[in-house]
Amino acid sequence: NKGKYEHYMQKEIHEQPESLTTTMRGRLIRGGSCKAKSVLLGGIKDHLKTIRRSRRIVFIGCGTSYNAALASRPILEELCGIPVTMEIASDLLDRLGPIYREDTVVFVSQSGETADTLLALEYALENGALCVGITNTVGSAIARNTHCGVHINAGCEIGVASTKAYTSQIVVMVMLALAIGDDTISNQTRRESIIDGLFELPSKVREVLKLDQEMKDLAKELMSEQSLLVFGRGYNYATALEGALKVKEVALMHSEGILAGEMKHGPLALVDENLPIVVIATHDACFSKQQSVIQQLHARKGRLIVMCSKGEASLVCPGGSCRVIEVPQVVDCIQPVVNIVPLQGHFLKTSGDLRKKIKHSDESESRECGR
Ligand code: UD1
Ligand code: M6R
Repeated sequence: NKGKYEHYMQKEIHEQPESLTTTMRGRLIRGGSCKAKSVLLGGIKDHLKTIRRSRRIVFIGCGTSYNAALASRPILEELCGIPVTMEIASDLLDRLGPIYREDTVVFVSQSGETADTLLALEYALENGALCVGITNTVGSAIARNTHCGVHINAGCEIGVASTKAYTSQIVVMVMLALAIGDDTISNQTRRESIIDGLFELPSKVREVLKLDQEMKDLAKELMSEQSLLVFGRGYNYATALEGALKVKEVALMHSEGILAGEMKHGPLALVDENLPIVVIATHDACFSKQQSVIQQLHARKGRLIVMCSKGEASLVCPGGSCRVIEVPQVVDCIQPVVNIVPLQGHFLKTSGDLRKKIKHSDESESRECGR
């Protein structure tokens, strides 16, 4: 039932405060006077020792699920100290890239049934790796065939364009990093601040959803353009890729997510006063580097739309020289959950044809539900 919403994608975008709450339910331990705040993931707790001993963690997924893993990579590296590599399932299979017995391979999939991801799972099992699933669908092929895993419990995702599964996947992988890194005392304060951030995340997402009208207006302006670039880095490199994927898929418009650190190695040549560019510049360790990217884009008269932390418009856009989207700030590693929301669904609002297409896909391609 779509309720007051026009299509499932819109409904699922607005459901995110609740879906994130369900994803975390029973898994965050508040701690107490003599007990530290911690995370309990029932599906992997018996495998944590093996995971900590692995030589490498390999994330495998396709599309949005791959992007969610990419968003979680930095915190996993930081808290676990294990090298993390990324594989798009089809590319791993094309190359028959090396997978070892000492690897932990994490398969990320909303449906748990994506053919390339399943083939990659078969391949990793043959190579003797520990295979961990992160899926929304209980009883799916990935849930059944992995050695262990975590259900994201985001609730059924019917819209073909993935939205609430993406944000829940990130939260589960951040919790995975917290659980694996739980044996390192030196990270305790950092871990506790992330757990505090997770507790308040649903309310921050509720707050960012209030940008609905502002984003609709912006989308209306941009719909007639040929192309849209999205620059991000660090935790928000994934936001750039996922934001661009949503624009492609939903607005049928060319869009490209670009690692901001690569800007001067080619993409700068595209910049002029016509091409709209979204720059993700919320406050984290990469902030000053993003400020200098913005200056360089400015110098080329770029048409900028900057996403920044609330209250920081003057730091990213001196003299009000560009358009700004201000979002609530949260702990750096979960900021991608907040930042993706304004880019998720607004670009489809203006096109009647597209609305028909989305409605059709709602009816004909509804997916199996997790719960
Ligand atoms: C489980 C129950 C949940 C219950 C909770 C109470 C299920 C599906 N979940 O949740 O209803 O409220 O205990 O403690 O019954 N798994 C894989 N691969 C995957 C995903 C999961 O092998 O891709 C396995 C896990 O290793 C685990 C089982 O499926 O053995 C359930 O996983 P999950 O639902 O995440 O576990 P809990 O959160 O403990
Ligand atoms: O079910 P999966 O997560 O394995 O699906 C993988 C991709 O096909 C999927 O994430 C796709 O990119 C999204 N529907 C895009 O919105």
